[in-house]
Amino acid sequence: MKKIVIHKPGGYERLVIEEHPDPVPGPDAVIIDVAAIGINYADCVTRMGLYASAKHYVGYPITPGFEVAGTVRATGAAVTDLEPGTRVLAVTRFNAYATQLAVPRSQVFRLPPQLQFTSAAGFCAVSLTAWFALFELAHPHAGNHILVHSAAGGVGGMLVQLGKLAGCRVTGVVGAAHKVGTVLELGADAVIDKSTQPLWLTAERLAPDGYDIILDANGVATLRQSYRHLAPVGKLVVYGFHSMLPQRGGVPHKLRLALDYLRTPRFSPFDLTTRNRSVLGFNLSFLFDQTTTLQLGLQQLLDWLEEGKLQTPGVTSYPFESVAQAHRDLESGQTTGKLVLTCTH
Ligand SMILES: NC(=O)c1ccc[n+]([C@@H]2O[C@H](COP(=O)([O-])OP(=O)(O)OC[C@H]3O[C@@H](n4cnc5c(N)ncnc54)[C@H](OP(=O)(O)O)[C@@H]3O)[C@@H](O)[C@H]2O)c1
Repeated sequence: MKKIVIHKPGGYERLVIEEHPDPVPGPDAVIIDVAAIGINYADCVTRMGLYASAKHYVGYPITPGFEVAGTVRATGAAVTDLEPGTRVLAVTRFNAYATQLAVPRSQVFRLPPQLQFTSAAGFCAVSLTAWFALFELAHPHAGNHILVHSAAGGVGGMLVQLGKLAGCRVTGVVGAAHKVGTVLELGADAVIDKSTQPLWLTAERLAPDGYDIILDANGVATLRQSYRHLAPVGKLVVYGFHSMLPQRGGVPHKLRLALDYLRTPRFSPFDLTTRNRSVLGFNLSFLFDQTTTLQLGLQQLLDWLEEGKLQTPGVTSYPFESVAQAHRDLESGQTTGKLVLTCTH
């Protein structure tokens, strides 16, 4: 098998393709011949050496990646309900950037028949993140007004769809004009293009009383204003910090990181109470220790997909060998939907 290994954090040249022995299934494991691998912004942060759970759970060297689609190659003795050749998708805490993957049975799901490998590979991580943020943390009510930052991206696009599924009014924010159509197609009621419109003046015009829920993975660039634009009893869900990171070059600037860290707002419990606002945060890596919630969320999302209530993100595919270009493109901030690596066997 081949896998992509990062021996030391750094730029794109750290993504090294290596040959390794094929995995052998443990009793409860499923070995998958990987056809496609979902790329997440967290993989870039792992490559840069700034992803806390990469250090916590694995350390370096590390093979990044959280999700694959492919066919079952072999199963362990305790797995009796999946035949070799079955089309599946799977989630994994790291190790997905590989042509074969061993995962526990509980993290493997049958592929809905209509789904292609590339669409399936990019579905799990972003939809689970959006599902957890909205339904496990923010608990939207029909009629709520939701603001989604980076709404044309992987997680952002899913938040738009799930917000509409919950009966909410959804305003998406994007950083470039070519993304506006993508967000409208996903069902958003309004889109703010912050490259041409004043973000917060437009946001105030669209929701004069503030937003019930704001979902923010920008970090320092917008967090303070996101908090200010909550309605009473509003919730700010924080789930990333990408505005601290470079859009080209692939290596974070240490001084800028330190300054942005200092500039990131700290929310006062007194202010939260007086103003009736909540700030929530989470990291999906920890969900792998809560198998029941993970399975519940993914099954619900797959059901919505089969019922036609949810669509998979638009996908841009790259060959396995072009992983560096895929990271470069994702970090540029110009992509929409999901980026996926494809494997040939
Ligand atoms: N907490 C969790 O468990 C969890 C799980 C998954 C993802 N995440 C986070 O969610 C965010 C989105 O992840 P994704 O994989 O779906 O990526 P993505 O949204 O497809 O791509 C990143 C988007 O962020 C925006 N952006 C703003 N500043 C940027 C910068 N300096 N560098 C690059 N992009 C920048 C760009 O959109 P606009 O310019 O249009 O805003 C860009 O298209 C990331 O911050 C990621 O770390 C968190």
